Amino acid sequence: MNADIRGQFPALQQTVNGRPLAYLDSAATTMRPERVLRVMDDYYRYDNANVHRGSHALARRSTEAFDAARETVRQFVNAPSFGSIVFTKGCTESINLAANAWGRANLKPGDVILLSSMEHHANVVPWQFVAEATGAKLRSFDLTPCGQVNLEDLKAKLTPEVRIVGVKHVCNALGTINPIAEIARLARANGSRIIVDGAQGLGHQKVDVQALGIDFYAMSAHKVYGPMGVGALAIGDDALAEMGLWQGGGDMTRVVSIEKSTFHSSPRCFEPGTPNVAGVLGFAEALRFVQEIGLGAIDTYEQELLALLTAGVESVPGISILGRAPHKAPVVSFSAPMLDLDEAGAQFDEFGVAVRCGRHCCMPLMESCGLEGTIRASCAVYTNKEDINVMIEALQALAAQPA
Ligand code: ALA
Repeated sequence: MNADIRGQFPALQQTVNGRPLAYLDSAATTMRPERVLRVMDDYYRYDNANVHRGSHALARRSTEAFDAARETVRQFVNAPSFGSIVFTKGCTESINLAANAWGRANLKPGDVILLSSMEHHANVVPWQFVAEATGAKLRSFDLTPCGQVNLEDLKAKLTPEVRIVGVKHVCNALGTINPIAEIARLARANGSRIIVDGAQGLGHQKVDVQALGIDFYAMSAHKVYGPMGVGALAIGDDALAEMGLWQGGGDMTRVVSIEKSTFHSSPRCFEPGTPNVAGVLGFAEALRFVQEIGLGAIDTYEQELLALLTAGVESVPGISILGRAPHKAPVVSFSAPMLDLDEAGAQFDEFGVAVRCGRHCCMPLMESCGLEGTIRASCAVYTNKEDINVMIEALQALAAQPA
């Protein structure tokens, strides 16, 4: 990838422990380019007004920019309408919104929420709360030995009681890219809704929620070069028609008396309170950054990084890679029995290498693999081959240390 792209990320231009930073923790959060930082700074410097509440110049500019950002997100995932993109604090809040506003209105005792065994806790715990409140049950479908969704097991478990299927687009712990269109087709044929945790998919894989047939697609801006604390939920028309409300507050309402209120339609009915306007504008700018490079070019480059990373990790004796799916994002997770998982992150840091060590918020997956956790290296569009070479040299050195 062009060195100009890397040069746009100020946080990458630093040394750590006297070494150039080799940042391989982009699955935890990506870095942000100057243009995203500038958009957010400009908002607070020049516009800085609440949205949907004023008719002065600053309020008008803020509202127009906020609405335009929603349209940018809508187009990026091809959601059906302006009302089908709801801004949230991030992927976790997006899933909580779906679980509460759809789940509580539609689930009843005996219904089943069917989740893949690789789900992040963010797509498990909200459903546990809703199951407890509604009497619905949680079930899971299995993975294949190489870390793919087992479609045969999914088919066997898609009984009439299954009201919703939950799956991640890309697995943060294994890198597996899931066959979302096929899973959505199976869910729909069963009359079930489908929610996709898109945290690791957005910005790496093309997303067209209508073509894929997805009811809910949850996004986080910070995984796609945008700011932390902001994200969105894309909602299909059929699911939207079934949703109740969730959080209450100002700006969602049309008429309020002490006894009762009437509400705007989506998205405003799901966005009470002052939104994170600067964050939303930064999110839209991050998506424009991705669009200008192009998802095809990003995928081609990330596959080169994945091949280099996989070959490098495999070359170190005693290391086993977890997740061998044929279609993977640039994430390599491995167990290294000669290293202490609690210390490995700090040991890599001595070499200026940032990796994540642990369960990656996927305890059910780690337990099914019989692992305490893994060491995970993850890339993004600014990662270069030197980052990977430095990380492999560090791994070789650490693996060769006497116990
Ligand atoms: N879910 C993020 C990760 O995989 C934080 O690291």
